[in-house]
This record gives sequence, C-alpha cells and structure tokens, in this order.
Amino acid sequence: MPRDDEQALRQRYEELKRLIHYHNYRYYVLNDPIISDYEYDQLMRELKAIEEAHPEWVTPDSPTQRAGAPPAEGFRKVRHPAPILSLANVFNDAELDAWLERLARLNPRVREADFTVEPKIDGLTVVLHYRDGVFTLGATRGDGEEGEDITANLRTVRAVPLRIPVHPDGPQPPPYIVVRGEAYMTHQDFEALNERLRREGQRTFANPRNAAAGSLRQLDPKVTAARPLHLLCYQIVVYQGPNPPRTQWEVLRTLEALGFPVVEADLCPDLACVKRAYRKWVARRETWPYDLDGVVIKINDLALQQSLGVVGKDPRGMVAYKFPAREVTTILLDIKVNVGRTGVLTPYAVLEPVEIGGVVIRKATLHNFDYIREKDIRIGDRVIVKRAGDVIPYIVGPVVSARTGKERVYEPPTHCPVCGAPVEKVEGEVAVYCINAACPAQLSRNLEHFASREAMDIEGLGRKIAEQLVQARLVEDVADLYYLKVADLLPLEGFAQKKAENLIAAIQASKDRPLERLIYALGIRGVGAVTARWLAERYEDLDALAQATEEDLAAIEGIGPVTARFIVDWFRRERNRKVLEKLRRAGVWPRARRPAEARPQPLAGLTFVITGALPGLTREEAKAWLEARGAKVTNSVSRKTSYLIVGENPGSKLAKAQALGVPTLSWEEVLRRWGPESGE
Ligand code: IVH
Repeated sequence: MPRDDEQALRQRYEELKRLIHYHNYRYYVLNDPIISDYEYDQLMRELKAIEEAHPEWVTPDSPTQRAGAPPAEGFRKVRHPAPILSLANVFNDAELDAWLERLARLNPRVREADFTVEPKIDGLTVVLHYRDGVFTLGATRGDGEEGEDITANLRTVRAVPLRIPVHPDGPQPPPYIVVRGEAYMTHQDFEALNERLRREGQRTFANPRNAAAGSLRQLDPKVTAARPLHLLCYQIVVYQGPNPPRTQWEVLRTLEALGFPVVEADLCPDLACVKRAYRKWVARRETWPYDLDGVVIKINDLALQQSLGVVGKDPRGMVAYKFPAREVTTILLDIKVNVGRTGVLTPYAVLEPVEIGGVVIRKATLHNFDYIREKDIRIGDRVIVKRAGDVIPYIVGPVVSARTGKERVYEPPTHCPVCGAPVEKVEGEVAVYCINAACPAQLSRNLEHFASREAMDIEGLGRKIAEQLVQARLVEDVADLYYLKVADLLPLEGFAQKKAENLIAAIQASKDRPLERLIYALGIRGVGAVTARWLAERYEDLDALAQATEEDLAAIEGIGPVTARFIVDWFRRERNRKVLEKLRRAGVWPRARRPAEARPQPLAGLTFVITGALPGLTREEAKAWLEARGAKVTNSVSRKTSYLIVGENPGSKLAKAQALGVPTLSWEEVLRRWGPESGE
C-alpha cells in the first residue's frame, strides 16, 4: 500500500476508535445515543476490517478489545495505590446529628462545612487505573489493601471508559488517575439473567448485587461480556496531574468531564438539607431501577474531610445513612398449605415473627411447590424475607451457610390438607390441585366467590359465613344456598333472627342477577368477569352454553383453546350438571339481555400497561375489558403510559413506571373508576 494511503487509513483507524468510544459514552454513560445501532455496527465493522489488515496497530484501548482476553486461571492480586476504605453507618437522624457533633468537636470548622449527598448503590466497588488516559488496570476492593485484578472483565463493561477523554474535545487526562466506582445490575437485567440461567439449568443469583459480583469474578471475560453490568463512579483515589479537585463536588464534575458515569449528588449547605435529600432518596428507592441501600454523606471540602482522619477503615469525614431494611432473615418454622377456590394448593411460610420496615411479618408466600424445591428451602432454615413497597412478603431463599443439619426437606402434599383427596398436577403447569369438587376448602371458597360483589353480590356472605355453612353441612354446592331457610341458620354461631333473615333475603335477591354474573359466579377455571360477559353475549342461557363445543367456544375472540376446554369440562361433569338443575329449579336461570347498545368509551385516549396477576381475571380478559372501553393496552411502560395496573407480584414495570412518574392503579381501583359501579 502506498505510504499516503496507509497514512490515511491509519488516520481513519484512529478516528474510528475515537468515534466508537464517543458513541459508547453517549449510550452507556449519558444514556443519550445520537446514532442508530445499525450505524454503530457499521463503524465497528469498519474498525474490525482495518484491524484484520493491520493487527500490529491494535492497542488495548481499541473498542474491539473489550472481550478479547482468554479465560484466566485465577485472579492476580493487586496492591491498591491507597487504602480503599469503607464507611461507618448511621440509621436515623439522631445518629446523623451525633456524627456531626463528634466531628465538630474534633474540628470546629466542620460547623461551617457543606456536604454532598449521594445515593449509596448496592453493588460492588471497582478500582480503575488510567495512565495517560488509557485504562490499564481494574481491581476489586478485596480487603482494602489488596484486591483482585479483574481488568479483562472490566474491559467488557461498556460504561468503563477504555480511554479518556472519551469525547474528542474533552479535557486532557491527568497522567495518572485512579477512580473508584460501583458496578451493579438493574432489577430488570437481574431478572432476565436469572430467567436465562434457570432455562439453561444453571444456578441463579439471590440478588442483583451477587449477580454483579459473580459476573465480575468470572474467569472467562466472555461470560462477563454477556452480563449487563453498569457503573457509577464517586471517588478519585489517586490524582496525579495539574489542578486536582478540591471538593467532592469538583471530584464528581471532573470525573464527569473525563467521561465517567458519575452518581447523581446534591450539594447541601447544612444538615437540614442533607436530611431532605435522604428522604428524597428513601421515596425514590421504591421505584429506582437498581438497588440502593442508603445515601452517602460527605464533607465537601476534601482537605477538611481528610484532616478528620480515619477510624479503623472508616474515614470520619463521610458516613452512610442507611435505609430501613426491606430484607431481613428469620427462621422458617413451618410450611403450610392453603386450598383455593379452584382447588389450587398454595404453600406459605410460617415464620418466627420479624419486623421489616415497621411491620411484623408472621407469614410469607412461597409461590408454589416448584419454588420451594428450586430454592431448596427447608423447614428450620434461616430464610431471607423480603417486603418491598406494597408487595406481599415473600421468601427470597435460604441462608445456606446458616444450616445446622437439623433442617427438614419439605415434601409437597400428595393429598389435600383439607379433605384428604389425592392431589393432581396438570401437565405444563406449576400448580397442584385438589380435584375433589366436594372439598370443603374449595366449597367454602367457591361460595365466597359465588357471593362476591362482581359475581352474585350476596350481601353479608363472606369467607367466615361460607365456612360456617360448609362446616354445618348446610350446603354442599352453591345451588343449596337458594334452598336455605331462616331456621337453618339460627343454630349457627352469631346468627340471631335478624341476621338470618337478612342473609336469606340477600340470597333471594341475587336470583335476578344477569346471566354474565351467574356464569362468572360458577367459578369455571379461566372464566373471569370479562370472559363471562362475552359468553353471555353469545349464549341465550346456561343450557345453550352447556351445549357449546370446544370449537364453538375457541372461535370466540379472546377465548383460547385452554379456556374452551375448561368450560366444556365443567359442563360435562355430573356434579356440576346437578348444580345447574338445582339452580333452575330454584329459579336462578337468567336469560341473556339483548345485545348491549354501543358501550360508552370512557377510556378512549388512555394507554394502560398491566403488571402482576390480577384478582379473578386473566391478563387477556383485563386487556379486552379495557379495550372494550376504548383504552389502548401495551406491553411496556413509557412516558406515554397513562396508568400502570398493578397486580400481585408485579414485575420490573412497576419500578419503571414509578421512575417515570406514571400513576399506578389496582384492578379494584380500575373497576371503581370505570367499572359497573361507576355508573356504566
Ligand atoms: S464512598 C471511603 N460513595 O458503599 C470511601 N461509597 O459501605 C467510601 N458505595 O465500599 C466509599 N455508593 O462500595 C461511596 N456514592 C458512594 C457509594 C459508595 C456505593 C459503596 C462502596 C463502599 C460501600 C461502603
């Protein structure tokens, strides 16, 4: 190649490296890309082509070198250029006041000091060395004196600048700078990673922090490269060069100018402002996309901060103000089982009572039997219990290292704990069912459902009375309700004449409920309120519905083959046929209303997203219900989302919505605002 051409190519090569670093920075640090992924890929491709032709040009800071290193045998130890210190904690305002008071006694200038307040990210410390602007070494904290060399892994983290400045007209880098930051994983990425590991049959991580740490301590950098790690920096450990920063605020601004992702900080003139900033982060934490465990308060003036010295490994001039715990450990005393209306057996944990964020927790959900097995949760284990926001407390997993050998492996029940009938597992489902339709647990839940407000709306018939009726053998199925007499109720505990009369009147009044309510009330699996309404629009009465074939039903928009089968199965069962006969004889036999006139569209122009399991209806049904009222329903939360509907066990959409300020609603609130009771 002629010299001139080669020079031009070399120039283009340098330019490409710079451009790609810059676009990485826009994407990973500023979260504000200015080119498309396609254009980015084109630049990378061009760079790779040049490097293939000229391997001798390739430098370690080339963007192609992020995942270049072969697997290591182990990690080399590296001595830190200065101790990598940790932090003392305070847990309330009084302790914070005391901290400052102690410092002021050591040095009265502290009374005039200002402070930075930064979120404390729950990840792991990384120490990054740059010589003449090139990333040369990256280490873990280790014991604070010596860490492990994880340079090859850190190279794969896109937010770690391989070269500074990352943008062409940034400031000159100091000859040597060592930066400290926190590597972490977002909730969303953590869940996706665990999902993938589960699919591949690998061990999952207990929390995002462990996932981040585990990902960085991989011997094969290719594995790290496939893990979505982020970085935020907050400290300069060594600065050799002109104009060193003099305050913590300047540290953050210097790091930012050099192209590092930095933590968002408040600059506070006094403790009142510090406390406000703390409360701001307490509120944000619920919705933040990654784990925060407190704020870090630092005396802004670095000379003053350093003059205060170090106690043990904690510098006096800064302190972590920790958030109230959301995760605690306690002993799992027992595993018990609830039987639901459809016969689903749901295990729950009986715990040694423990307080989380001011609430005493005695029970927590265990989701299902597979969960217990996958997490290897044993009776007697010390377990991690989590309660976040308004989510039902759940068991995250056991503390395996706390085992004594006395723990008992739990065996899922083979028989229903209430009626003793054998249980069944449906192929392809995690749930275990009690298939005895006469099971008292199911029957009382069934009655409760039948009488509920969205179903037959029988005032006064709640869980407790349903259980009493079943226990006294006054009803063996829902139809028996209509044959009850006041005298039957009087012997029951708590029933005086008036109460008995009221209940019988309420039962009789429910005979006029429309067909769709009755269909819903029957409690057929997969048939929520919305599907019931569709069925009532198609079929004249229960006789007509009972004649429908799977094909007929599956042809109805919104009803899938599984629900169609559940419906046909339900009507085929002898026991259920008897229930229908009894209902007919009692005069509970509504006929379909004439097709509704065009329904009003109160939700026109609104966009909804749904997360978590909704009470009594499937996701599809909720979607159809909303759409029938003019709403748009999408899968992901954005600024355009009007409301996020939050069910049980919500996913990461909740955090996202809260971060974006998208209002949230429960399904009950949706019904209250726009449902039948709202005047529709
Ligand atoms: S300052 C002496 N600032 O919290 C310097 N640490 O519990 C101490 N952390 O090991 C660190 N966010 O890994 C500082 N904004 C922040 C932080 C932060 C997270 C971590 C860091 C440290 C641990 C101390």
